Amino acid sequence: MAPALLLLRLLALIATAREACAARAFAAASNATAHGATVVAGKLNVHLVPHSHDDVGWLKTVDQYYVGSNNSIQGACVMNTLDSVVDALARDPARKFVVVEQAFFQRWWAEKIPNIQAVVRKLVDSGQLEFINGGWCMHDEAAVHYIDMIDQTTLGHRMIKKQFNKTPRAGWQIDPFGHSAVQAYLLGAELGFDSLHFARIDYQDKEKRKAGKGLEVIWRGSRTFGSSSQIFTNVFPVDYSPPDGFGFEVLDENILPVQDDMLMFDYNVEERVNDFVVAAIEQANFTRTNHIMWTMGDDFSYQYAESWFRNMDKLIYHVNKDGRVHALYSTPSIYTDAKHFSNISWPVKYDDDFPYADSKNSYWTGYYTSRPTFKRYVRVLSGYYLAARQIEFLVGRSFLGMFTTSLEDPMAIAQHHDAVSGTAKQHTTDDYSKRLALGASKVEKGVNVALTCLLSSNGTCAPSVQKFSQCPLLNISYCPSTEETVSGAKNLVVVVYNPLGRERSDFIQIPVSA
Ligand SMILES: *[C@@H]1O[C@H](CO)[C@@H](O)[C@H](O)[C@H]1NC(C)=O
Ligand SMILES: *[C@@H]1O[C@H](CO)[C@@H](O)[C@H](O)[C@H]1NC(C)=O
Ligand SMILES: *[C@@H]1O[C@H](CO)[C@@H](O)[C@H](O)[C@H]1NC(C)=O
Ligand SMILES: *[C@@H]1O[C@H](CO)[C@@H](O)[C@H](O)[C@H]1NC(C)=O
Ligand SMILES: *[C@@H]1O[C@H](CO)[C@@H](O)[C@H](O)[C@H]1NC(C)=O
Ligand SMILES: *[C@@H]1O[C@H](CO)[C@@H](O)[C@H](O)[C@H]1NC(C)=O
Repeated sequence: MAPALLLLRLLALIATAREACAARAFAAASNATAHGATVVAGKLNVHLVPHSHDDVGWLKTVDQYYVGSNNSIQGACVMNTLDSVVDALARDPARKFVVVEQAFFQRWWAEKIPNIQAVVRKLVDSGQLEFINGGWCMHDEAAVHYIDMIDQTTLGHRMIKKQFNKTPRAGWQIDPFGHSAVQAYLLGAELGFDSLHFARIDYQDKEKRKAGKGLEVIWRGSRTFGSSSQIFTNVFPVDYSPPDGFGFEVLDENILPVQDDMLMFDYNVEERVNDFVVAAIEQANFTRTNHIMWTMGDDFSYQYAESWFRNMDKLIYHVNKDGRVHALYSTPSIYTDAKHFSNISWPVKYDDDFPYADSKNSYWTGYYTSRPTFKRYVRVLSGYYLAARQIEFLVGRSFLGMFTTSLEDPMAIAQHHDAVSGTAKQHTTDDYSKRLALGASKVEKGVNVALTCLLSSNGTCAPSVQKFSQCPLLNISYCPSTEETVSGAKNLVVVVYNPLGRERSDFIQIPVSA
């Protein structure tokens, strides 16, 4: 009987420092005229930032959102958004859009013909289409492990670098339910971002900051690194949708189009311009410098992008003709350059934005512990994934290829702020688990073979003699390999892999038959 070698799955969190995303030197732009977006000195500049917030699974699964199925649950199709945004941008070089979630963009990019890809490359090079945040998803900041945040961000950034030779400049965590100082320094400044933007901080804190013009701060998230890892942080005055009356989603019941054709009824230019100016001045009242940002988008918006762009084109034209304030298409990078160029000082912030309450007695803290089994599953696989990648590296890719890639996408998706947080619907959470289980089973097979290579005396991977199996169910003392082998023989070999960067003593229990 061949000796059965057994790998005990040792799940541990890695303590060694991980290779962070390549740090990027950022030369602060001297002024904000980049990509043709011109700000006007001495006027209030209203930066219109077109965006769509696309959850990587929530009420529907990630693929349902992408293809636009199950619209009875939520009318949302990210494919429509990306298709129509690219068309709308190509129609007018003044228009801009920021693309955030790579889980969707990469699904879309992979199925585009070269002609369309060439159009997108042009839009990216000209700055009309800018990738911000750039991770696979917009990760949660409370229930995640920092290594998983790094991994899911690296995955997206690597693709953007490969396909477009760009590195995102701005953090765009507009929806997660509170914010961690780790995000500010590690997933912000250390990542090469020069600004971080989000909406959800405690409602009382927000009121106080509004009154003191303190929504925008320099965030020094690390006491150790101090000012060497600080980041300009912009907290939105309300949420990530536009001021009331300025959303232009195609089927929105309350849409108020800019009607500027005098030959038709309901001409409303003066009224719309006045409303625009009033909303702008109100926001300027609690913002430092003469630059304010309007987040022109919402959840799964721009499904027919022309509706937004047509109305924004008109607003920009008529508002600038009116002249009281100046409106422009912008991005978080252009906005940040303008703030930087203003050369004023900002309040400094050090601490977390946890716990988050959006109104009296409405604390978003239940999600720290909800769906504990899913949270555990994600954390357990996170450790396993890391160990597997070490083993993969030790064997060398030339032998086995990259067998751990099957966990990349599922692990990254699981860090979404409705995934590991536990705030997605049950069927969506089941979908996350299914993806993880499929990925993990492939990685497990790879690890089994990889161990054969590592332990063979002649450096080959011939699986002829050694046969590995793993024991994920030791929690219920179930492991057929040990139970069956030990009954008749003395040749059980147990292999334990320690993925930590240091020695560790531990007891290992294995079931044997009496
Ligand atoms: C801003 O940048 C533009 C284009 O690079 C340049 O022509 C202009 O002189 C700059 N203005 C200032 C005030 O630096
Ligand atoms: C989504 O749509 C499919 C096909 O119509 C259906 O089988 C499935 O039950 C739907 N899922 C949910 C969660 O409603
Ligand atoms: C600006 O803020 C001050 C002080 O909070 C307030 O009294 C005033 O009404 C505000 N003006 C506008 C236009 O909102
Ligand atoms: C910015 O402000 C500092 C300190 O107030 C000053 O020394 C510097 O000249 C200013 N730079 C510009 C470009 O205005
Ligand atoms: C390497 O060793 C294994 C047994 O461990 C054997 O089956 C295989 O033939 C050997 N390969 C070479 C190239 O020697
Ligand atoms: C043992 O672990 C497996 C996989 O992690 C899990 O599905 C199962 O519920 C656990 N059993 C018990 C009794 O905890």
